[in-house]
Amino acid sequence: LVLILDFGSQYTHLITRRIRKLSIFSLCISGTSSLKTITDLNPKVIILSGGPHSVHSEDAPTFPQGFIEYVESNGIFVLGICYGLQLIVQKLGGVVDIGEKQEYGRMEIEVLKESGLYKSGGVGSKQSVWMSHGDEAVKLPEGFSVVAKSQQGSVAAIENPARRFYGLQYHPEVTHSPEGMVTLSNFLLNVCGIVPEWKMEDVLEEEIKVIRQVVADDDHVICALSGGVDSTVAATLVHRAIGDRLHCVFVDNGLLRYKEQERVMQLFEKDLHLPVTCVDAVEKFLGELKGVVDPEKKRKIIGKEFITVFDEFATKLEKEIGKKPAFLVQGTLYPDVIESCPPPGSGRSHSHTIKSHHNVGGLPKDMKLKLIEPLKLLFKDEVRELGKILNVPEGFLKRHPFPGPGLAVRVLGDVTDGNALEILRQVDEIFIESIKEAGLYDSIWQAFAVFLPIRSVGVQGDQRTHSHVVALRAVTSQDGMTADWYNFEHKFLDDVSRKICNSVRGVNRVVQDITSKPPSTIEWE
Ligand code: XMP
Repeated sequence: LVLILDFGSQYTHLITRRIRKLSIFSLCISGTSSLKTITDLNPKVIILSGGPHSVHSEDAPTFPQGFIEYVESNGIFVLGICYGLQLIVQKLGGVVDIGEKQEYGRMEIEVLKESGLYKSGGVGSKQSVWMSHGDEAVKLPEGFSVVAKSQQGSVAAIENPARRFYGLQYHPEVTHSPEGMVTLSNFLLNVCGIVPEWKMEDVLEEEIKVIRQVVADDDHVICALSGGVDSTVAATLVHRAIGDRLHCVFVDNGLLRYKEQERVMQLFEKDLHLPVTCVDAVEKFLGELKGVVDPEKKRKIIGKEFITVFDEFATKLEKEIGKKPAFLVQGTLYPDVIESCPPPGSGRSHSHTIKSHHNVGGLPKDMKLKLIEPLKLLFKDEVRELGKILNVPEGFLKRHPFPGPGLAVRVLGDVTDGNALEILRQVDEIFIESIKEAGLYDSIWQAFAVFLPIRSVGVQGDQRTHSHVVALRAVTSQDGMTADWYNFEHKFLDDVSRKICNSVRGVNRVVQDITSKPPSTIEWE
């Protein structure tokens, strides 16, 4: 295991992902975790991440007492990145100070001595790297040497092979450091001697084994399927472990996309052979949402209704099988787990409260279900890989994310007003199909249409019209936390706009959303 101690850098997830791409299992925990948490994980290598602090600031996060003694007495290799390097220098008796010149952005470094870190390059070789620091190491601790220097003369890489400490002042994990991956791989494979053998097949086998151990032979498990990739892969995995003692429910809440129910039920039943009950709760949801315009209220109502339906499903099931279901499957991913316990000062702590995501928590307290979260340690792309092994069709695995509250956050205002939902379904389908036909679907993180609760004047045939406006939104993103709007060619936009106005009754104007996140969010509500 390669353990990453997170000191709040925005790139920490990236380090974890890059290392896993090398077929080496890595985990990331808060940099201020207790020594017991670290020793329990029994890592072979520990990476100290970057972070926004100065090692001199009062609230500077640091590893726990006894950390240095622990790593040295157990032969653990340590690599400090940026702030991590400065921590090593400071804690082992060197000096970190405010640099004469700060280094932000692309920078050239030169390798000064033979080192396992730069096996392929060698002395005198130069490479471009991504720097982001104000402080720098001005005096190294006893026994350490400078391996590389920046073009401005500051320390870029250090090592003390005898004590197994290494440090990079730059960020090898970002793509702006083109040779960063080679350096990480040199460090892990050559210096630390790790054998890259972590495979998704092994993850699957291990998860199945664990589920079979914790779920007793007569226990039953329930799962709510959203039609998204995560819950589908999680359910398919659990189904492989315990068969039809898994009971899934799919709720038609009236807020689904065009033919969504037919499409996902076909996948669940025919392709994946999952035992699924489809509950028609359209009237219930839309009845509760009638007249509600506040986005947060809409989300809360949907969350609450969903729980009621789920509760009823569990009660009915209990009557049928004569036993309370004991477990609940959730498709929680690794980023959700990391986000929910951010390190101090990382600035990530409010990311989830910007909008209340209804699928995070909120289940009835008296349900007393234990959770099965088989994807809890995986990133989205790894879940897709796992899905492939589980024979989930590739087209489905590449589907754009769809929010839990569905079209309710895409019809602004009252969702039950007129035939807004129906219009939106048709517009959305035309937009998405056009994107697929143009071969752009996989280059876009998420695309959808939004129904605006306003009318504008138009002219269709010889008649003046007073009809609806729809907006098109397409974004690129890594993880949905930040996003850029997607720049379509004018011809594509022109074609889509014509198709929409010609075939969807009630729409006479199409606009495009050209805002990134931030300042906007991806969804409109
Ligand atoms: P925002 O709009 O916050 O969305 O920029 C970021 C990503 O999250 C999705 N999203 C949700 N997913 N329940 C979900 O399951 C929600 O309440 C929810 N709100 C937004 C959104 O589609 C985008 O992918």
